[in-house]
Amino acid sequence: MVRNVAGDMAELAPEDFYLLSGVEQGMRFSEWVRRDKLPDYADLTREEVEFRIDRCLDRELIQRKTIQYEGYQLTFEGYDALALRTFSERETIDGVGSPLGFGKEGDVYEVQSFKPLALKYHREGYTNFREVNREREYTADRDHVSWLYTARKAAEREYEAMESLYPDVSVPRPVDHNRHAIVMDKFDGVELARATLEPEQAVGVLDLVFRELATTYDLGWVHADMSEHNVAVAESGITIFDWPQAVPVDHENAREFLERDVANLLRYFARKYPHEVSRDADTDAIAAAIADGPFETIRAFDPS
Ligand SMILES: Nc1ncnc2c1ncn2[C@@H]1O[C@H](COP(=O)(O)OP(=O)(O)OP(=O)(O)O)[C@@H](O)[C@H]1O
Ligand SMILES: [Mg+2]
Repeated sequence: MVRNVAGDMAELAPEDFYLLSGVEQGMRFSEWVRRDKLPDYADLTREEVEFRIDRCLDRELIQRKTIQYEGYQLTFEGYDALALRTFSERETIDGVGSPLGFGKEGDVYEVQSFKPLALKYHREGYTNFREVNREREYTADRDHVSWLYTARKAAEREYEAMESLYPDVSVPRPVDHNRHAIVMDKFDGVELARATLEPEQAVGVLDLVFRELATTYDLGWVHADMSEHNVAVAESGITIFDWPQAVPVDHENAREFLERDVANLLRYFARKYPHEVSRDADTDAIAAAIADGPFETIRAFDPS
C-alpha cells in the first residue's frame, strides 16, 4: 500500500520538489534516471542534488537502483507529493483528511476545500501493470509503459469521461486533475454491494442505473467497469463512479463492454433480489435498449 504523503508536505522545501520533478522528467526517457543527469533535469547544483536525493530517499519519495549506472525513480509517494503540491498551489485543496476507500486501482481520500471533496490517486501499474495494459486501449500499442504513464493516462481518461458526462449523468462533479490524481465532489451513500435495498426498491434502483447508462451512451461513452462496487446509493439517488476504463461508443469493443456492464448488474440483482429481478432477463435486449432506445424496453428484466 502507498503511504499517505500529506503529512510530509510541510517539511518539503521547493528544492525537494525541483528534484522530484527532475526525476519525473527523466522518467519520460528511461525507467531509471542517471544521477549525473539530475542537475540538469532538476535545475539544481550538484551539491544541492546530493542533499535533496538523501532527503527524498529518507522519505521514500524516490528509490535508487544501481545497474550499470546509478539510477533513480519516483515512487508512488513521490508522484503523489508532486500532484498534491500542484493542487495546493492552485488552491484546489487546503488539506488531506481521512481515507474514503482503497480500491484495486485507486486510493481515495477526503480533502478539505470550501467544502469536503474527494481526491483519488490512480494506482494502475502498481502491481498488475501487464494485465492493466492489455485491457486498456490507450496503452495497447506501446511496448514499454511505465506505471507512471499508465496511472496518469487512467486519471486523464477518468477525468475526461466525467467532464463530458457531468451533470447529465449522475457522476461526482469533476473539480481538478493533475498527473495521476483527480479531485471531485464527495458523494453520499454506500456502495450498492453493501446496501440492503427494500425488495420493492430493487427494480427501481436497477432501472435508475440503466437510465444513467443510456444517457452515458447518448453522450458518447460506455463505462466498461460496471458492477455493484462502482455505484453508490443514497436517499437522494445514485452515483456512478470509477470511470478510468470508459471507452467512446465508437470503440470497436464498446458494444461488448456495454453488454458486459449490463450482464454484471443483472447477475448481481438477480442473485441478491431473486424475487424482483429475473435471472432470465435478456442482456442483449437491454443493452440494445440502452444503446439504441427506446428506453421503455428496459423493463425487460422485471418479472412482473
Ligand atoms: N467521490 C467520492 N466520494 C466518496 N467516496 C469515494 C469517491 N470516490 C471513491 N470513493 C470511495 O473510494 C472507493 C474506491 O474508489 P474507486 O472505485 O473509484 O477506485 P478503484 O480503486 O478504481 O476501485 P476498483 O477497486 O473498483 O478498481 C469507492 O468504493 C468509494 O467507497
Ligand atoms: Mg471501484
